[in-house]
Amino acid sequence: MKINFYGHSCIQISSGSNSIIIDPFIKDNPLSNVALESIKADYILLTHGHFDHIADALELAKNDNSIIIAVEELADYYGKLGVKTEIMHVGGGIDLGFCSIYLTYAQHSSSVRSSSGEIVYVGNPVGFIIKINGLTIYHAGDTGLFKDMELIGEQFSIDYAFLPIGGRFTMNPNDAVLASQLLKPKCVIPIHYNTFEPIVQDEKDFIKRLKAKEIQGKILYPDEVLNIQKRK
Ligand code: NI
Ligand code: MN
Repeated sequence: MKINFYGHSCIQISSGSNSIIIDPFIKDNPLSNVALESIKADYILLTHGHFDHIADALELAKNDNSIIIAVEELADYYGKLGVKTEIMHVGGGIDLGFCSIYLTYAQHSSSVRSSSGEIVYVGNPVGFIIKINGLTIYHAGDTGLFKDMELIGEQFSIDYAFLPIGGRFTMNPNDAVLASQLLKPKCVIPIHYNTFEPIVQDEKDFIKRLKAKEIQGKILYPDEVLNIQKRK
């Protein structure tokens, strides 16, 4: 299996011919040079409705007849645009055959802009726990630090935790180190940084700070692919 990181919060997890993509933000993402047309996914998972997480969801879904997985309010928004959806809510799970998904709490907001520019709330923001090929992957979405990350770490033996470190809109590196201590994952991969000026961070320093707490961190650069051996 492999994980493609397209920069910002956009990751794609593929196993054989099956694939899911989280928070597709490709075309207007200054960090990614991948052509949207080259990406195919069976499912599109959306953590929340902000532009930098859903920008290419509609086009991707229409190109490949993909199914969008989101909370009811955000799924409803896409359902009205003609996209197939699967509705979930925090605490619930879904088995997709090649992987299973569980929705976690995230401390943030979730809205889209109407055609007249008004803010329209689209339910709660979430994070995802994805179990695939014997691995457990946590994508925290956009979130501030919260103590219940400790509970998520107790519930799931996380192999890879994708945590935002950009600050301003989400956790900063300090908070993400604390989050890592609560979650106890085998490996932390920073996301949601360096995309725009307000969220510029020193990712190498973050990895050093994790190491000082005896936590393994790994930087994935935009458009980098992480190949993972299948585990039984
Ligand atoms: Ni956001
Ligand atoms: Mn964001």
